[in-house]
Amino acid sequence: MKILILGSGGREYSIARAIVNENEQHKLFFQPGNGATDALGTNINIKDYNDLADFAKENNIELTIVGPEAPLVDGVVDIFKAKGLNIFGPSKAAAQLEGSKVYMKNFLAKYNIPTARYIETESIEDAFKFADTLNAPIVVKADGLCGGKGVIIAQNHDEAKVAISEMLSGKSFGDAGLKVIVEEFLDGYELSMFAVCDGDDYILLQAAQDHKRLLDGDKGPNTGGMGAYAPTPLVDEELYQKVKDRVIRPTLDGMKKEGAPFEGVLFIGIMVVNGEPITLEFNVRFGDPECEILMPLMLSSVSDMFYKAATNRLSEIKVNFSSQYAVGVVMASENYPYKSSTPAEIIVDEVHHDEIRDNTHISYAGVSKEDGVLYADGGRVLVCVGLGDTIKQARDRAYLRCGQVHFMGKKIRTDIAYQAL
Ligand code: AMP
Ligand code: GLY
Repeated sequence: MKILILGSGGREYSIARAIVNENEQHKLFFQPGNGATDALGTNINIKDYNDLADFAKENNIELTIVGPEAPLVDGVVDIFKAKGLNIFGPSKAAAQLEGSKVYMKNFLAKYNIPTARYIETESIEDAFKFADTLNAPIVVKADGLCGGKGVIIAQNHDEAKVAISEMLSGKSFGDAGLKVIVEEFLDGYELSMFAVCDGDDYILLQAAQDHKRLLDGDKGPNTGGMGAYAPTPLVDEELYQKVKDRVIRPTLDGMKKEGAPFEGVLFIGIMVVNGEPITLEFNVRFGDPECEILMPLMLSSVSDMFYKAATNRLSEIKVNFSSQYAVGVVMASENYPYKSSTPAEIIVDEVHHDEIRDNTHISYAGVSKEDGVLYADGGRVLVCVGLGDTIKQARDRAYLRCGQVHFMGKKIRTDIAYQAL
């Protein structure tokens, strides 16, 4: 198959890597890709979605896979579909589940899907009044996309009121904060679950745990994610079943009723409170770095799974997962997540040890290439992934691989998967 992948991160690299490793030969294109994806296919540079769809038509691209949320919220899927192209991802209308937290919360409430008690409002008085009814900490969320920064966990009522005022005045997040959600704080453990959906049916992948904070021990600022592992032993069959019955099925049925059937990856952020899964949020794409650890655990063809999802035929296939565990450790640049860093050459030692060569790999994200040399370009640079028969073995292997990758200012967490060990 000829396949086009939209995005430039480790997530997109890991999808491509899984496809390249399939038995069948495929030809891959990336828009825009990164300095390492060109080793897996061809990077192109066509920003306009109409022009990109024309490129896909002219080049007989049979499947387009969208990695990040921004093109989805902008409606890239609608543009491709209008031209008769197969594309895996939600329509602009369905992408509102991530594009607007107000839409998402109101959807959850309408279809009785358990979520934190909340108010959505543009009024500072109403927001303050509701905050006063809650015990601290208090959660304040901007409605729109804020690059993962739009959620404030306020430690007391004063902090919550400052966050509310700064959002509603447009000071902290511009237009994205002109509506806010104020909600109760849920105390439990957090999980990420991913359902690959075709509008009617779905395939639930293994549950993962992400590490959002920058520093060991879950300290420091929030990031896009500093590492992840899967499957997590914190989920048993009963919990999977609850998520299917109480979250995924009503969401697919509800989105159909709303006239926006959900096709694509439904990423469910869950807080497990006293054994019950409460939905914190939806995203409409794979998590990053969760994707980097889920892809290598797929024994079945992922290109076929995405193709079947994009053509509403998921019910025809069964998917097999590896019985192993995967741990991914993010290597970020010096100034992440505060500001950009100067490009630094990446040196990857040759791996001589069979165990490490066969059970680890690197998913490249924020990298560029010049004269055949890879540079760390800032942000999250790459993910070292280890596979093993136990979480500990997978973790140890991932960290051994980390020791063989060097660039100025490289930054990692040393405790990925600690919750499961
Ligand atoms: P979100 O973008 O909604 O996932 O929020 C980012 C992070 O904030 C989540 O991954 C949680 O760690 C935390 N969070 C969001 N909402 C709540 C809540 N109601 N209670 C506790 N933590 C929350
Ligand atoms: N790792 C969390 C996210 O991609 O939003």
